[in-house]
Amino acid sequence: MTDTPRDNPTPIQICLFPVAGYGTRFLPATKAQPKEMLPIVTKPLIQYGVEEAVAAGMHTMAFVTGRNKRAIEDHFDITYELEDQISGTQKEIYLSSIRQLIDQCTFTYVRQTKMRGLGDAILTGEPLVGQQPFGVILADDLCHDDESVLLQMTRLYAQHQCCIVAVEEVRREDVCKYGIVSGQALPDGSIRIEQMVEKPAIDQAPSNLAMIGRYILTPDIFDILRETPPGNGGEIQLTDALKVLAARNKVIGFPFSGRRFDCGSVEGFVEATNFYFQHQTRG
Ligand code: G1P
Repeated sequence: MTDTPRDNPTPIQICLFPVAGYGTRFLPATKAQPKEMLPIVTKPLIQYGVEEAVAAGMHTMAFVTGRNKRAIEDHFDITYELEDQISGTQKEIYLSSIRQLIDQCTFTYVRQTKMRGLGDAILTGEPLVGQQPFGVILADDLCHDDESVLLQMTRLYAQHQCCIVAVEEVRREDVCKYGIVSGQALPDGSIRIEQMVEKPAIDQAPSNLAMIGRYILTPDIFDILRETPPGNGGEIQLTDALKVLAARNKVIGFPFSGRRFDCGSVEGFVEATNFYFQHQTRG
């Protein structure tokens, strides 16, 4: 796809989804199926992410995947026997949302062979992305807003032409779970990020402003990631690579004002399920 939809003010076409993680917090449910395929009501978590990217005008979905993740590929493909079976029946409508995505998008995959952190996952996606700006969605962070969070971030990208990270205030006791940032408020309501720390102790945190799982990254991040040594938890951290760009005034924070569910935790997952059960029409 080469066209830029009217609602995407930038030529950002690709969204990267790091989906290689094991999902140990959901065992035994995730023993033989990807955590991204767990449903929030009737739709798998990963489909919400892909819908958000499509709503931001992106049409190439690039997955950094791993063993046990084949169900994701199958989900974004036609299932002939099933479709043949329900064709012409009232049940056909249940497949309409996924059919629309399959018709609109190209899905590409690369495997991450070792779990070495989010930074390593992003770098593994380089062959799928090449030299262009791209979106990143961590599907665990399910975001509900009046319009796609990533779409709102593409607008900010169009203005600033640098990396954009979505940020949200979290409770002080939760700062150790996130990449924490601080910076200078800009007139348009965004933040020029100056400091970034991955999962700091409460007394080391520069603020309680956390990065949530939505990013627009510029391709220079790849060269920086190649040089980034293991950080927090012995893993290659995206936050450490972004810090290099922040020092060059190249990272802007987008204050996310919608509702976010941490579906990487059982509590957040249940909360999201209840919320979407109330708000969603099936399809
Ligand atoms: C990752 C990032 C972290 C970010 C978080 C958002 O951490 O490393 O900076 O705040 O996602 O969900 P993870 O949750 O993968 O440990």
